[in-house]
Amino acid sequence: MPPQAALIVGASKGLGLALVKKYASEIGASNVYATIRGYLDGNSKGDTGSPFPEGVHVIEDIDVSEEDVGSKIVEGLQGAAIGLVVYVSGILKPEEMGKANWKDEVAMYTICAIAPVFVVQSLLMSSSLAPDAKIILLTSEAGSITLRTEGEGGGMYGHHGSKAAGNMVGHLLSYDLKERGISIAMIHPGFLKTGMTKDAGMEEFYDKMGAVTPDEAAVPFYEFAEKLNMDMSGKFWAPMGARGIGNAEEVLGKEWTKQPGPLELPW
Ligand SMILES: NC(=O)c1ccc[n+]([C@@H]2O[C@H](COP(=O)([O-])OP(=O)(O)OC[C@H]3O[C@@H](n4cnc5c(N)ncnc54)[C@H](OP(=O)(O)O)[C@@H]3O)[C@@H](O)[C@H]2O)c1
Repeated sequence: MPPQAALIVGASKGLGLALVKKYASEIGASNVYATIRGYLDGNSKGDTGSPFPEGVHVIEDIDVSEEDVGSKIVEGLQGAAIGLVVYVSGILKPEEMGKANWKDEVAMYTICAIAPVFVVQSLLMSSSLAPDAKIILLTSEAGSITLRTEGEGGGMYGHHGSKAAGNMVGHLLSYDLKERGISIAMIHPGFLKTGMTKDAGMEEFYDKMGAVTPDEAAVPFYEFAEKLNMDMSGKFWAPMGARGIGNAEEVLGKEWTKQPGPLELPW
């Protein structure tokens, strides 16, 4: 059954925005809460107008790299009980040997692996989660150690490392959430045609690697969230299956890649 209310953290663009639109169409815009880092009116950080369907509750000024992010989100919910939380916020700063960047790494680890703990903790401690709520953390197949290969090589220390750390904290949170009947899954959403991949110079791989638009990815995401249950909790999933996972065939074998999603990914 779809959630009565959904919270999308990191909803300004890309997959987060697509999920806001998808859930607004499925459960009604007034049941969707969307956080953005900036402001809709353009007063502070340059945004103009609203990309969101009318009626969506937009919670402004939510920077997940700030320590009080959890309490600010709870305040923005104004007492609503959330049945689905999707933590989307992420950044990708490529690195290579000789050009590792301390500040970028701190930002990536903070956003991907530290903030989710504090967001979930605040939601839980403030009773902002509905009974049997579901939580989904957007990590990435990039955070799978098993899926990294010699051919692909090194580099990407902060991005891949922070996604692996995000998988770990989600797994640990699953034990804390279990007794309350709340499930949590970490997912790879597919290879997405968004600013994140474009800015990282990955546009040239879109066709070869089966990249999809955020709107396309929102469909298997929604179906996955519907299926998510306590048996699937604490694990790492690919709602679209192997599509968009570059090393899947080499590492996991051809048979594995033929299966439809959702597929459980190796850590
Ligand atoms: N794109 C892919 O192929 C791919 C693959 C695997 C996993 N993922 C993961 O899926 C998620 C969505 O990716 P995407 O492609 O949709 O990326 P995107 O278009 O770049 O969107 C990223 C979102 O994160 C928000 N964000 C960044 N830093 C933030 C901060 N400090 N505080 C709050 N929000 C912040 C951005 O808000 P602003 O507009 O304020 O910057 C934006 O809403 C990410 O976690 C990404 O790592 C993506």
